[in-house]
This record gives sequence, structure tokens and C-alpha cells, in this order.
Amino acid sequence: MDTPNTTYAELIIDGISYKFPIVIGTENEKAINISGLRNKTGYITLDPSFMNTGACQSTITYIDGEKGILRYRGIPIEELVESCSFVETAYLLLHDKIPNRDEYKRFSSILNESSLLHESMHHFFDQFPLHSHPMHILSTMINALSTFYPHVDSESVEHDIFKSSAFLISVFRTIAAFSYKNSIGEPMVYPRYDLPFCANFLNMMFDSPVKPYNIDEDVVSALNKLLIIHADHEQNCSTTAVRVIGSAQVNLYATISAGINALSGPLHGGANQAVIEMLETINKDEGDYKKYVDMAKNKSNNYKLMGFGHRVYKTFDPRAVIMKNECHNLLNKLKIDDPLLDIAMKLEEIALNDEYFISRNLYPNVDFYSGIIYKAIGIPTNMFTVMFAIARLPGWIAQWREMINSADKKIARPRQIYVGHPLRHVDKQISHFI
Ligand code: ACO
Repeated sequence: MDTPNTTYAELIIDGISYKFPIVIGTENEKAINISGLRNKTGYITLDPSFMNTGACQSTITYIDGEKGILRYRGIPIEELVESCSFVETAYLLLHDKIPNRDEYKRFSSILNESSLLHESMHHFFDQFPLHSHPMHILSTMINALSTFYPHVDSESVEHDIFKSSAFLISVFRTIAAFSYKNSIGEPMVYPRYDLPFCANFLNMMFDSPVKPYNIDEDVVSALNKLLIIHADHEQNCSTTAVRVIGSAQVNLYATISAGINALSGPLHGGANQAVIEMLETINKDEGDYKKYVDMAKNKSNNYKLMGFGHRVYKTFDPRAVIMKNECHNLLNKLKIDDPLLDIAMKLEEIALNDEYFISRNLYPNVDFYSGIIYKAIGIPTNMFTVMFAIARLPGWIAQWREMINSADKKIARPRQIYVGHPLRHVDKQISHFI
């Protein structure tokens, strides 16, 4: 709403001047509010792929892509990784505060109580074709939750949303672990009440009747960090999918399922799997990384150096800096000598000194090093993007809640400029097939 302090941008079309309010964010980001543009002028804006479109005002995550800054609810990502667990970070995203002891206990106990998957859903896992990608299993299973719990949508009361969010965060992790166990033909391992979130997940993934899993605190700590750095990233592709689909008042689980599908693409969350596959290919090719850099620079093909580049970050992705350090720390602690790490560092060095990458601001992104850590933890490659989804879930839910609670919420419905045929008619002279 305009106030006496509102300033305006002036747009002149056909000699007529129109004024549109300028919106200024907490960190001085500026936007022109053009929501009245079509009514006033008959024009719309055209911005394919939303390169220049702010879709909402949000209080959740702040990114400065030029300076490499990422904050959740105002707190730098580096501080959260240093001092908080993933569960505290999830609470922060959902409730705008780091939980105190009582809030943490209450949230943790709801997470624990909600971790069981409805027994009838266990049979679903058997019906997927062998070799189904776990991301597709995950999105199907989360969508299926809406048939068991149909009443969580944008009309639900806050208390139900709180409980459903905790349920979803908890059972999501159980489904992810079950889908892995199912894929390797091992019995599912039930969640344990005595284990915290990340340790519980690792136990469900790796414990077996013939080989008990030994929970290693360094691994648990690395997993917490990995999940924290992926927990939200403002209006990225999957979050936008969640907001757009949720705006039609779709059930929460069906909405999140859409986010999972968006995340599965190799240009988005699927990149972490693509990075490790690229590094493995280079390794098999006798480490000839220069060949792949040249391929990425060659415009006659579509090959890209996976894990490089970002729509928003035009300098180092701050998450990649954390990941790189964590990668070295964990591999040292676990005494793992992974040739893929050497190749990754060589690729990074060459890219950072190469005119092609420098001129296009292509730096390593969050996915460049995360796969090497997942590999060290024992997570199979096809589960990497599922790990990303587990992490991103609190962000999706926080963004969905913000959207449904916003005063100006409306169904998302972009417009277009039609460039097809002008009016033409059915040819009645020829026979048709009714
Ligand atoms: N390797 C080689 N060239 C690249 C790369 C790359 N990884 N990324 C971008 N470029 C080039 C493009 O070809 C383009 O070159 P041109 O100007 O000569 O045509 C230029 O850099 C600009 O790139 P765009 O594709 O226009 O950038 P956009 O913002 O649309 O895409 C994206 C960003 C999708 C991340 C892209 O950089 C990419 O495909 N990277 C590899 C996949 C990846 O790592 N994705 C994970 C992103 S992080 C996340 O989603 C969690």
C-alpha cells in the first residue's frame, strides 16, 4: 500500500506518463510494483524464465548473489552451520526463531512421534519397477500421503499446520530411508525414539540385521551441516513450484510432491548426482579433466560442467565454500582418499582461471562438493537428490505457509503474449472425423 514516503517509477507509453510504486526491501533491494500495470496501460511485462521478476515479498531467506551472502531469517548460513542442528534450523525457518530448550523438546518429540509411516503404505514400495529413481518414488509416496491425510491445506488452522509440518518433516525421512532399503532388497529399519533426527535417518539407511550400524558423530555432524545449507534458497524453481501449486489451495502433501518433482531435474537438485557422475566419468577417462572443460566451453554441444554456475550467485556460492571445507574435514577424519576430490579441485582451479568461466561468473555451486561428502557417508549416488529434498522440505513448508498467510494471496496465474496464428476457421469443405 502506498504511504506518504512511497517513491515512484515513471513509465511513459505513447507520451502518457504512468507512475508505479517502488518497493524497498530490508537490505535495500529495489523493485517496481507493476501489479497495476495492465489495468492502467493495457500492457503486461514479458519476462521468460522469470529472470527479472520478484514473485513475492518474503521474510524467510535473504541472498545477495553479488556478495555471496545467504541468511535464513536474518542469520548468516555460516553461523547456523557452526552452531545449530538441522532440527533447530528447520524450526527457525518455520517459526522465525531458534527454539529455546522447551520449544526444541516439544518439536523433537513431535518429530519422533510422527516418524512412523502408515503401515498400509509399506506395500506401495513393492509396486515400483526395479531401478525406479528414488526421487520419483519419494514424490509418489508424498503425494499418496494426501489420500491418508486429506485435510491439510491452506484453510487448515495453525495448530494443525504445525503438527502436519512436523509430521511431514519426520515421515519424509522415513520414506526416503525405506525407499533405499527397498531398492537393495533389505528389510526396512523402523525409526528409533532414542535417536536425534540425523542419527535416526542414518540408522534407518544403514542398519541391518546382519551388520549393526555404528553411528559416527563426525558423520552425523557432516549430515546436519549438509541439510542446513540446503534448507532454503528463496524463490528457486522447486520453491516457486510449491508456491504456485499451493496457491490453488492444493493439499500440503500434493503441493510438496510438486516441489520434489521440480527439484529432481538435473539443472536444479539433480545436479548433485550429475556432478558425481561427471567426476566419475573423468576419473575413468584417466583424469583428463581438461577435455571436459573444453567440452563445456564448446558452444557446438550442450555439455555443461555440472556444479558450476548459478542463476543468482555471480560470485562464490557461500554454500560451496562451506561444503568444500566440510569435504576436506570429513574425508580426513574418516581417512578416505577419494580421487574424485582431487579431480574436483583441479576442475575448480582451472575454471576459476579460465576466461570463459570468469567472464560468465561461473563459480562452483552448492552441488559441486556435496556429492563427495554424501559418497563418504555411504549414501548411494541415486539418493543424493533425495537428501537435498529432505533438507529443502522445511524451506518449502515455510514458503508455503508464508504464501497462504499473506494478505494479498491469489492463485498464481501469469499471462502471455500470444504469437500464434491470427483468427482462422475450420475448413467445412473437407471431411472431418466426428
Ligand atoms: N558449464 C559451462 N557453461 C555454462 C555453465 C556450466 N555449468 N553454466 C552456464 N554456462 C554458460 C551458458 O552456456 C551461457 O553461456 P553463453 O552466454 O555463451 O550462452 C552462460 O554461461 C550463462 O548461463 P545460463 O545458462 O544463461 O545461466 P542460467 O542462470 O540460465 O543457468 C544454471 C544457471 C542452470 C545453474 C546453469 O549454470 C547450469 O546449467 N549449471 C550446471 C547445472 C548445475 O550445476 N545446476 C545446479 C544449480 S544449483 C541448484 O539448483 C541447487
